[in-house]
Amino acid sequence: MSIMAACNLNKLQKRLSSQCATDMKRVRVVVVGAGVVGLSTAVCIAETLPYCSVTIKAEKVSPDTTSDGAAGILFASEFLDIPREWQQRWFKETFDHLLAIADSSQASDAGVFLSSGYQIFKDVPWDKKPFWSDFVLGFRNMTDRELKRFPKHKFGQAFTTIKCECSSYLPWLEKRFKEAGGQIQHEKVTDLQKLAQMYDVIVNCSGLGSRFLVKDEKVYPIRGQVLKVNAPWLKNFIRDGDGKTYIYPGISHVIIGGTRQVDDWRMEVDTADTEGIMERCSQLEPSLLKAQVIGEWVGLRPGRANLRVELEYLHVQGRHVPLVHNYGHGGWGITLSWGTALDALGLVRQSLFEKPPCAKL
Ligand SMILES: Cc1cc2nc3c(=O)[nH]c(=O)nc-3n(C[C@H](O)[C@H](O)[C@H](O)COP(=O)(O)OP(=O)(O)OC[C@H]3O[C@@H](n4cnc5c(N)ncnc54)[C@H](O)[C@@H]3O)c2cc1C
Ligand SMILES: *[C@@H]1O[C@H](CO)[C@@H](O)[C@H](O)[C@H]1NC(C)=O
Ligand SMILES: *[C@@H]1O[C@H](CO)[C@@H](O)[C@H](O)[C@H]1NC(C)=O
Repeated sequence: MSIMAACNLNKLQKRLSSQCATDMKRVRVVVVGAGVVGLSTAVCIAETLPYCSVTIKAEKVSPDTTSDGAAGILFASEFLDIPREWQQRWFKETFDHLLAIADSSQASDAGVFLSSGYQIFKDVPWDKKPFWSDFVLGFRNMTDRELKRFPKHKFGQAFTTIKCECSSYLPWLEKRFKEAGGQIQHEKVTDLQKLAQMYDVIVNCSGLGSRFLVKDEKVYPIRGQVLKVNAPWLKNFIRDGDGKTYIYPGISHVIIGGTRQVDDWRMEVDTADTEGIMERCSQLEPSLLKAQVIGEWVGLRPGRANLRVELEYLHVQGRHVPLVHNYGHGGWGITLSWGTALDALGLVRQSLFEKPPCAKL
C-alpha cells in the first residue's frame, strides 16, 4: 500500500466522507476549557459545522473560571510578534459580535453593553493611536478641560468600548452551545492520548492549564487582584495607561483594580494589594473613599509572549489526531475571544479536509 493510500485510510476522513444520512454528527470534537475562549470556540464549531458533535470538558465552569472575574472591558495591548493585522481582525470581530448583542434585546441577559470613558497617561505614550482605535466608537484625544480632573496626567484618550461581564455572558454562551447540540462535562483532562482515542479533533482552550496539560512552559501566570465596590453614581471608566490602576463601572457594581504580578501563583486576597488599589483608585476618583467594598477577587491571567492559535497533530496508535490550540490570551482574553474562536474554527475545518502529515504513518 502506498503512503498516500495509508493516509486515505485516516479514520477521521473516512468518517467525514461517510454517506450515512442517519448519522449526521459523524465527527467527534472535544474542546478542553469552559472559560470565555473555550465556550466561544465551542459555540463557533457547534453552530457552523453541523456534522460535528461537540463536547466541552472543563475542570472549572462558570462562575469559577478566570474569565468570570475579569472586568471584561474590550481593550488590548499589542502582542509584539503577532502580525498587527491579525490582532486587528481578532479585536474587530469580537467587538462587532458583541456590539450586535449590545444592540439587541439579549443585551442584559448576556451582560454586554457599551461603556464610555478615559485612558489617561502621566507621560505622552509613544503609541498615540493604539491598533484598535478605529474599531471602538468615537476614539479621540481628551481635551484640556477633560484632563483637568487628573492633574498628574498629561495626556488622555476618550472612547466608547464594550463591557462584557462574563458572569452573565458565559451562562448565556453555555445556553447557546447546548441549543446547538453541545454537551458540557465537568472534569479535568490529564491524559491527552486517552482523549485522542475517543475523539476525532481536540481543541485546547485550557488557558493557564496549558502549562501542565501540554507542558508549555511559555505560559505563565500574571496575578490580578480587584475589588468590587458599590458606587452606582460612577458611569464612566477610567484606566491609567500603565495598566495597573482602573475603575470599570458595571451592571451591579464597579470593579476597581488592580495588579499585574508576573509569575505570582497566589490565589488568596492580599490585604496590602487591597489597600494599594483603594489608594490609587481614589486618587483618580475621590468619591470612591465613600464606596462600600462588596467583594475582593484574584485571578491568574494566562500570560504568554504570544497567544497561540495553531494546528498540530498528535500521533496516537497509528492515527494523526488534529489538535487545535487556542490559549495564552493574557489580559485580553475577552477582548480577543470571538476573533480567535473564528480562527480556531477555521483550523478545525482545515484539519477535516486537508490530508494529515503522512511521513510518519
Ligand atoms: C483581574 C483581571 C482582570 C481582567 N480584565 C480583563 C478585561 O477587562 N478584558 C479582557 O479582555 N480580559 C481581562 N482579563 C483577562 C481574562 O480574564 C483572560 O484573558 C481570559 O479569562 C482567558 O480566558 P480562557 O478561557 O483562556 O481561560 P480561563 O477562563 O482560565 O478558562 C480556562 C478553562 O480551562 C479549564 N482547564 C484548564 N486546564 C484543564 C484541564 N487539564 N482539564 C480540563 N479543563 C481544564 C479551566 O478549568 C477553565 O474552564 C482579566 C484578568 C484578570 C485576572
Ligand atoms: C492627539 O495628540 C497627539 C499628541 O499630542 C498628537 O500627536 C495627535 O496628532 C493628536 N491626535 C488628534 C486626532 O488630534
Ligand atoms: C494545551 O496546550 C498546552 C501547550 O502546548 C499543552 O501543555 C496541553 O497539554 C494542551 N492541552 C490539550 C488538551 O491539548
